[in-house]
Amino acid sequence: MNDSINRQILLIEKPTGKLGPEHFKRVEGPVPEPKEGEALLRVRYISLDAANRAWMQGATYRSAVEANSVMAGGAIAEVVASKAAGFAPGDLVFADTGWQDFVALPGKQMTKVPRVEPMTYLLSVYGIAGLTAYFGLLDVGRPQAGETIVVSAAAGSVGTIVGQIGKIKGCRVVGVAGGPEKCRWLVESLGFDAAVDYKRDGLFDALRDAAPKGVDVYFDNVGGAVLEACLAQMNVRGRIACCGAISQYDGAPSTTGPRGIPGLIVVKRLRMEGFIVTDFFGQRDRAVTDLSAWVKEGRLKVEEDVIDGLENTPAALIGLLAGENRGKRIVRV
Ligand SMILES: NC(=O)c1ccc[n+]([C@@H]2O[C@H](COP(=O)([O-])OP(=O)(O)OC[C@H]3O[C@@H](n4cnc5c(N)ncnc54)[C@H](OP(=O)(O)O)[C@@H]3O)[C@@H](O)[C@H]2O)c1
Repeated sequence: MNDSINRQILLIEKPTGKLGPEHFKRVEGPVPEPKEGEALLRVRYISLDAANRAWMQGATYRSAVEANSVMAGGAIAEVVASKAAGFAPGDLVFADTGWQDFVALPGKQMTKVPRVEPMTYLLSVYGIAGLTAYFGLLDVGRPQAGETIVVSAAAGSVGTIVGQIGKIKGCRVVGVAGGPEKCRWLVESLGFDAAVDYKRDGLFDALRDAAPKGVDVYFDNVGGAVLEACLAQMNVRGRIACCGAISQYDGAPSTTGPRGIPGLIVVKRLRMEGFIVTDFFGQRDRAVTDLSAWVKEGRLKVEEDVIDGLENTPAALIGLLAGENRGKRIVRV
């Protein structure tokens, strides 16, 4: 990184089909000057998220990303100069910096974070991924010991943590992931009880074999066909924690949704509840206390997939959507 040049990755066109390298362009500009109330940040680690792709489709829990602007994205950054009250050079913050080396942001758009080792944990286990897994499973899914949990995108950043928390809470945990290697890894390295490859034929039967007593909690990261297969196997008073819908993000949206709604929900008295992790930020300390204790005790493995170089960010996101990552994908700038 050169201290006098700001490298930026622009989204030059919103994809209508699959995201590709042609939708991005690298440019260089001057390092911005912070205005009154702003701090100048140097970006250190960028979080790669399936949601980055969803933001290109339109407004969600945040505004849509627009063509010909710096690609949006959360990151851990260091304050290098400050005209913002409460922020000093050397402070670490989490902010939507976008994919670039430097950005000047107002104080209210940055959250100060503590220095932890490794720093990447601020984006994985103690960041959005860990908090989403913790609150989505425990506060929305509310599993009881002995129950069966199914989690999709199980080898991704949220899924790896959901499954391990489920084991800590004494549940049977079944992961759904793409490919036999990932499925084996979930069982052998992360302690899942079983894993189902959704890319093979026979998803419904494979799920039934992996969850012979039915499903009490389904943590849904993907929507689509996996949600439909799980819905039909939910136990009475089961809970579906709707976290995301990766199967709908990249490419044309599907024209069919899961069948069986609302009939199955009524007959089985299911609770299907969406959530956004920020709803729970007021209770963050409780989550971080538990998550850090589990990490220290060796009961929660933190899986990270760190890629070097700002210029590799587009390929890192395209690869994530194709299932390249295991655990939290991060770009070191
Ligand atoms: N509600 C919230 O507040 C909140 C916060 C954070 C994240 N989220 C959501 O949580 C979900 C998981 O995010 P993440 O960051 O853990 O994911 P991630 O690490 O980015 O992993 C994405 C994984 O999804 C899988 N995938 C891709 N296309 C798929 C498809 N068509 N069907 C099924 N799986 C597919 C791929 O693995 P395979 O090889 O297994 O296909 C890929 O590795 C996303 O839906 C995200 O939007 C929600």
